[in-house]
Amino acid sequence: MVKVWTNWGAVLPNPCNCRGLRGRNIGFESPFSHHDIKQKMQKRIILVFLTLILWKTGISGQELKSQSPLVIAHRGASGYLPEHTLAAVALAHGLGADFIEQDVILTQDNQPVVLHDLTLDATTNVNNLFPGRNRKNGLFYAIDFTLAELKKLSVRERGNRSGTESKYPRRFPGKSALFKIITLQEEIELIQGMNKSTGRNVGLFVELKDPEWHRQEGKDLSAVVMKLLEHYGYKTAKDRVYVQSFSANELKRLRLEFETKLKLVQLIGENRWRLSETDFNRLLTAEGLAEVAVYADGIGPWIKQIVGGNSFFGNPELTSLVSDAQSLGMKVFPYTIRSDALPGFSSSFEELLDIMFKQAKVDGVFTDFPDKVRSFLKLQI
Ligand code: G3P
Ligand code: CA
Repeated sequence: MVKVWTNWGAVLPNPCNCRGLRGRNIGFESPFSHHDIKQKMQKRIILVFLTLILWKTGISGQELKSQSPLVIAHRGASGYLPEHTLAAVALAHGLGADFIEQDVILTQDNQPVVLHDLTLDATTNVNNLFPGRNRKNGLFYAIDFTLAELKKLSVRERGNRSGTESKYPRRFPGKSALFKIITLQEEIELIQGMNKSTGRNVGLFVELKDPEWHRQEGKDLSAVVMKLLEHYGYKTAKDRVYVQSFSANELKRLRLEFETKLKLVQLIGENRWRLSETDFNRLLTAEGLAEVAVYADGIGPWIKQIVGGNSFFGNPELTSLVSDAQSLGMKVFPYTIRSDALPGFSSSFEELLDIMFKQAKVDGVFTDFPDKVRSFLKLQI
């Protein structure tokens, strides 16, 4: 049985009082003593204060960040090919992405596969191949299938809620049976192989998908993923990988219990989406952001947390989120930039990119269209 670890609360205020949406305790019992953890946290708090001092003395987070914003291919080049397929990954590499994103979940036999949803319904033909293997709610969960079984499925363009047509009608035809579910290992090998053959150094942007739910299912997603990343040489903060999660407690766990040196990104959504036990409203406060800066290197907000709306004259109204986070030494990588699904605050793709890069000055974006963002950056920045 998984035991709980609640010592974090002795060092910093607990963002969710250790009881989440599903009404259960969160976190694992740490192998470290309370004293060890307290010492580590004190060191990190000192680092944050040093960053704040740099900021106060005129060296802003903006100046500390790298020169060129990152193009992060969201689920591969998913604007052109079905998400999280080898083809979409190869195309993203070829189109000039700096990083390629992987959403990772576990199979019944503990294999990490690259899938956005916990369920298979919206992106595969599972209903045809495995009738009756759904749960009571009618959905087919990847975690109920072995990797060998998942490999029999075809991956297709994401369908809409009713499954009658594609979510993005102008994208790859929905009925194709060309593509397969891939493992994280396969994707790493493809990216590292293409890095060798092209001389580029494209990185990974790995998201741990709902680690809390995996724990309920008796699985430790983080342990499997971190072991695999280490096996493939991703060990230090300098390595070309970011690990991201909506779960604040899981990221804290990676930093303290796993003692990972890898760069971590706190994803921020809306509480109503029910993605995690994390209280996103609290993370967006000054106190919450300062706490994130203790364990994470960056944040991944959604674009409407950066642009609150338009002024009376139609100009975008930026929130202070980007500058607040950068002032704490963190990078900001908003999601998701799509040329075929513009947010209400922008009337064109170019305007959206202008707002993100030139006005908000983000450090990179998740995009389904890495080539279009790359072209914009070449011309404008
Ligand atoms: O990980 C950044 C972004 O991808 C988060 O949203 O739902 O596409 O994983 P989602
Ligand atoms: Ca993601």
